[in-house]
Amino acid sequence: MEIAERQEALERIHRAVQQCTRCPLHLGRTNAVPGAGPVTAEIMFIGEAPGFHEDQQGIPFVGAAGKLLNQMLEKANISREQIYITNVIKCRPPGNRDPRPDEVEACRPYLQQQIEIIDPKIIVTLGRYSMARAFPNEKISRIHGQPRRIEGRIYFPMYHPAAALHQPSLRPVVAEDFLKLRAVLDGEIDVPDYDAPPDAEQLSLF
Ligand code: URA
Repeated sequence: MEIAERQEALERIHRAVQQCTRCPLHLGRTNAVPGAGPVTAEIMFIGEAPGFHEDQQGIPFVGAAGKLLNQMLEKANISREQIYITNVIKCRPPGNRDPRPDEVEACRPYLQQQIEIIDPKIIVTLGRYSMARAFPNEKISRIHGQPRRIEGRIYFPMYHPAAALHQPSLRPVVAEDFLKLRAVLDGEIDVPDYDAPPDAEQLSLF
């Protein structure tokens, strides 16, 4: 597909998300938050769910976690303009509670289509919800910063920036993982295939 066609397809998904009524979260939202960034992005970041500021503005990662994300990106010499960023679910859960399985399920087609159209070289999963799709039954404390190839694409699990806000000792850990992401992007690190634990139920990727 030509870039213009892919751009158009991505904008169609964004519009569908903005009008979505597939789950009850639409009743409480100010704005749905489809995602932001160029269709040509080599890196796609997938967070959990919009928070207060994202709901207000309709743009992902514009609140406190987003500010920390921007700082980490800058240190790794990656600009926000070169990445595509979205969330597992596109509407803010009340009180920022954890997403529910039915909400994740309702949003899944949007995320799947976003991945298909953008076709990023690297998917960075931010936090547990996003990680759990690619790395079922894993613990973020064990696998963060360890990219793996799954079905030809690189998946890079990271702590959620909000975790580093609540737990300052995680900051240097997250910063180091971002530097590793830079190295993967530059092809300086060989990324092994993912060897799923034997008890892992293999979910469809996102
Ligand atoms: N946290 C997320 O997971 N996503 C956002 O967009 C903002 C905060």
